[in-house]
Amino acid sequence: MVAIAEKLSFYHLINAEQIKKKDIELICNLASKYADLSRKGSKIPHDNENLILASLFFESSTRTRFSFESAMQKLGGKIISLEQGQSSSTNKGETLSDMGRIMSCYADLIVMRHAVEGSVAEFAKYANVPVINAGDGSAHHPSQSLLDIYTILSEKKRLDNLTIGLVGDFKYGRTVSSLLTLLSYYPNNRIILISHDSLKYDINKLNMLKSLVDEVIETTDLSKYIQDLDVLYVTRIQKERFNNLLAYEKVKDNYHINQEAIKNAKKNMIIMHPLPRINEIAPEIDSLPNAKYFQQAQNGLFVRMALLNLIAKA
Ligand code: NCD
Repeated sequence: MVAIAEKLSFYHLINAEQIKKKDIELICNLASKYADLSRKGSKIPHDNENLILASLFFESSTRTRFSFESAMQKLGGKIISLEQGQSSSTNKGETLSDMGRIMSCYADLIVMRHAVEGSVAEFAKYANVPVINAGDGSAHHPSQSLLDIYTILSEKKRLDNLTIGLVGDFKYGRTVSSLLTLLSYYPNNRIILISHDSLKYDINKLNMLKSLVDEVIETTDLSKYIQDLDVLYVTRIQKERFNNLLAYEKVKDNYHINQEAIKNAKKNMIIMHPLPRINEIAPEIDSLPNAKYFQQAQNGLFVRMALLNLIAKA
């Protein structure tokens, strides 16, 4: 048994705003215990042997779904799953609220991804077991923000006094806004938002961020700030959310992180990406010590183990 006495402050996890600093500490501490056990090849305690996780994915996923499913199994629990919403009665027109009621009869925890903003919150209203939002449209991806924070903390040993550059798609991407919410809890951070003008961060979210964070800069020019960055967080242009493919074609190759693009970066700048990547990071970067995106995906397993274990006690 991995002993953690305290409880999380939320029941369902729908957005990053629900996550308090204390929750981040609890989750990161437990995740690093799981990471240690795994590194040493020690057995993971089966603390959640009697639990069934339902994983309901109405949208594509590799890392999020498999890491949640693997996490539950490593904790001794079991999974029932729905992939791409293909075989559920939502195809027959069943509402998410009815599905929420029904799935609570069969599972002890639910993780759900859906293309429609607000859909997971709606589903959770009718579920009487904890529901984790694994991404709803362009809105939220709170478990990703936890593994991103865990990765920054384990690599940089702090979450304050950092200059963090984010690059890519802030209009449709959901990982950035969830991560920025958590980063805004820590003092003396500088946030540099680097994107094409058509993919800028929502103005209301930007103003909120500016009221919480020491310094926020919006720019189209990565080269102007690259030498200042402790963390470079790269994101994919979210092709599937564009109404107009021509608009996507115009911006899809705007930023390409290769050796040349980072030649003036600090030696210990880390490069992160929630993945999948398309062309935004060149394969030549993969073998550099700065590249942390595969480690970040691995961390996702430990963070989701911690999250499932703790949320089961909520
Ligand atoms: C992200 C997502 O689904 O929002 N992927 C993930 O969960 N690791 C990012 C993306 O798809 O670009």
